[in-house]
Parts: sequence; C-alpha cells; structure tokens
Amino acid sequence: MQLEETLSYDDVLLQPSYSDFLPGDTDVTTTILPGVNLQIPILSAAMDTVTEDRLAIALALEGGVGVIHRNLPPAEQARQVGMVKRFLNWVIESPVTVDEDQTVHEVWEIMTGYRISGLPVLSGGRLCGIITSRDMRFCRDYTLKVRDVMTPNPVVEVGRPDIESAKEKFDTHKIEKLPVVDGEGRLTGLITVKDLEKHNDFPHAATDSSGRLLVGAAISPNDVDDRLPLLTESKVDFVVLDTAHGDSRNVADAVARVKDRYGIPVIGGNVATVEGTRRLIEAGADAVKVGVGPGSICTTRVVAGIGVPQFSAVVWAVEAAAKTGTPIIADGGIKYSGDVVKALAAGAHAVMIGNLFAGLRESPGREIIFEGRIFKSYRGMGSIGAMKQGSADRYGHSATEEPVPEGIEGRVPYKGELSPFVHQLVTGLRKGMGYCGCRSLDQLRKYKKFIKISAAGLREGHVHDVVITQEPPNYSR
Ligand code: IMP
Repeated sequence: MQLEETLSYDDVLLQPSYSDFLPGDTDVTTTILPGVNLQIPILSAAMDTVTEDRLAIALALEGGVGVIHRNLPPAEQARQVGMVKRFLNWVIESPVTVDEDQTVHEVWEIMTGYRISGLPVLSGGRLCGIITSRDMRFCRDYTLKVRDVMTPNPVVEVGRPDIESAKEKFDTHKIEKLPVVDGEGRLTGLITVKDLEKHNDFPHAATDSSGRLLVGAAISPNDVDDRLPLLTESKVDFVVLDTAHGDSRNVADAVARVKDRYGIPVIGGNVATVEGTRRLIEAGADAVKVGVGPGSICTTRVVAGIGVPQFSAVVWAVEAAAKTGTPIIADGGIKYSGDVVKALAAGAHAVMIGNLFAGLRESPGREIIFEGRIFKSYRGMGSIGAMKQGSADRYGHSATEEPVPEGIEGRVPYKGELSPFVHQLVTGLRKGMGYCGCRSLDQLRKYKKFIKISAAGLREGHVHDVVITQEPPNYSR
C-alpha cells in the first residue's frame, strides 16, 4: 500500500516574487456561480452561530456573501433571505402594500414584522396613497382605516424608473419613498431614499442585477421541495447542499433535482477528493464546496477516522474541476488571512468561514462575559446542541436518534463589527497577492509557487520568544 502525502495550510507557504504594483491595486473580485459575482472572495458558513440575515447583510455590504443556515423552519429561512434581498435595492420590485380598507393596527404589524417604515396604499389594485411611520406617529387610534391616516396622491415615478429623476424628486419634494406606477396607476415598484443612500455608503456591495444584496441558503437533500419554493419566492441567489458527505448518491440526486426543477445555481458539498468533486460536477453542481474535517469545531476526523488535510483537498478538487472550470470553494480551517491567500493560490475561487465570523457583533446570539472577557458562542452543526435543533441529517442521523456528534459547542472571543474585521482579512489577502506579484485572483490561482515547510518553519513564522502586550486585530494564538 502506498500512502498519499497530504498537506494542510500550516504545512505550506507561498514564495514571494517580483511585483510592480501596490497591494491596494489588486483585484479581489471573483465569480463563484453563474450570475453570482463577489467583490471579495468570502462566504460565511451556513451555521446557526454564524449566518443569519444580520451577518449576511453585513457581509454582502462588504462584497462577500452569507449562506443562511438550515436549522430554521423553511418559512423562517426564506423570511431571512427576504430580509437580505430587501435591504438594498434600486427599485423594490414587489413592495409590501396595504389596502386602504385595512386598519392602522395591521399596518403597524406589517411595518414591525418586515422592519420597514412606509407602505404604498392600494385601492382596487391601483395606488391611492402612501402610509409612513411619520403618518403613524401622529395617529392615536389604531382602529382607524388606512385611508383616514395615509398621505393621499403621493409623488410618483411613472413608467420605467430612472434613478436620476428619482433623486430629483426626493430632493424637490423632501420625501423618503417614491412609488413607481405604470400608465394605468398600477404599482410596479418603490424607490426609497434610504436605498439610494445605502448604495452610496457601500459602493463595493455584492449585488444582483437589480442592485439587491446577494444571499445564499443551505438546504439538505431531504428538504429540497420544502425549502426551494419558498426560497425562490424570496429571490435567493443560490442554494448550498449542506452535507458532511457530499460524495453520496442522495446529494448528487438532490443537486440534479434542484437544477431540473428550480433552475437555480447550486453549490454541492462537501467533498475532499478528485472523484467526489467530479461526481458532483457530473450531477450538475455549478460550484463544489471542499472540506471534510478541517473545521475548527469539527471532530469528524477523530470520530470517524476520515478526512483530508484541507490544502491537499483543495488542490485535488481544483484538479478535478479544471476541465469544466467549475469554481471550488474552500470551506473550513481558515485561521488567519494568510490561509485565505493559500486557499485561493491552491486554486479555490472563494473561501467559506465559520470560526473567524462567529465572534462578530452581527453573528446570531448575545455576547457572553466570562472571567472579565467577552465571548460569543460557536458550535458545530454536528454538535449535540445543533443536531437536536435540526441539523442531525447533515450527519446522516434522524432527529430522534441518540446523537453521535461530529462537532463541539464552544465560544470564541468577541471581535466587534464585521466591517473592520473583513477589512483586515481582505487586506491580508491583498498583501499576499502583492508579495506574489499577482494582481488578480486568476493570476494567484495560476501562481503555484508553494513550498513545504517544517514544524520549525511554522514555529518561526508565528510570534515567538516574546510576550504580546498589544494584540493586533489580525493575529492571536
Ligand atoms: P471553520 O471556519 O474552521 O470554523 O469551519 C467552518 C466549517 O466547518 C463549516 O462551513 C462547515 O463546513 C464545517 N462544520 C460546521 N459544523 C461542523 C461540525 O459540527 N462538524 C464538522 N464540520 C462542521
């Protein structure tokens, strides 16, 4: 028997090369799926302590994309996808509306449910007014009908909306919402001043062709037909077959079913071999997610004795995907920004991150104070707690069986807001590209000048022989 030699991120380094540009001049955009173009090559993990709508919004505003986890009932997951899709628009295509006969109380419920501050009012299907939180503020009687409280005959944009003309109307009339109607007065959209401002504030946001933030959702082979109808209605951009063993018949079948029935881009996973990658591509996966056992909370390798060190897994998958040009997503095991550089130089189109994002303000859950320091919880989707809440089938269990976990429940240091943290991560990536003389991720993927290092080399690369007195934002042990 000949044993294959494998490597993890810590076993390798990239050799530096000549460069004639500054790290700031690098281009870190990437396409992970047809129509899904990211400004930074980062996805957040579909985990219940990492990605819900809040983190997905924050990450997409920075140019990456979040994958909403699936330990949520289908309707709640789809609602969160909807929250991300509605966060930023040029034109809201199907705005939430009310009828003039509804009560102010119903308006209040809709506004709080969707966290929106103004609704177009319809009468017989045609626009007749607008009701905003300003109208509500001065209303003492919530049993009143909308028609008694709304602002009638609002300023509108007619026909195909034009952003410049919309901006002019906002300024001239000092309004915050501008309904769009067709020639017959039927509502076709809504433009809000907040959206226009947000587009200015986040010029690098990852958006679809209508200017809405990108978002993905995790599904299982068992719930394709429960989740997909709701997710497509919420305009999800892609789905991820979120399984621990993607090289299996039910996952390949599910990939094919999503493509056939719903025609939506799909990421298949997780695999860690050439054959596994090939089988998912043959089944129709638009991208393949790679990682069996590298996750920081993962015990799969010790519980089941299987897995592939992540650097080798990515290299193998990239080889397998080369013929079709299918993007590979390196999932798990990213500890520092340098690992992002290594994953992309190994040929991945993007990385997926759990641990590093779990401590951010925008991740689900509250901060925990322990012995005077602040933490947030982070747990594997194969931990006892997460499996009991629904993710058991990710690990081939039914929800009623006694769980045999493949992950742990723990905590990570609180890291503050996502934006400055992602800036550190992406600037680390740009620095790596600068050192290699690679201006684009395409060039970095072709660079291939890796060297293998020893344990002494790894030790030398970390901080050594000193006590850190001021922790930098991008390094801790
Ligand atoms: P991390 O960024 O190293 O923490 O890895 C996150 C990745 O670990 C996720 O995207 C999943 O692919 C994987 N993962 C999540 N939960 C578990 C688990 O309980 N066991 C094994 N792997 C997991």
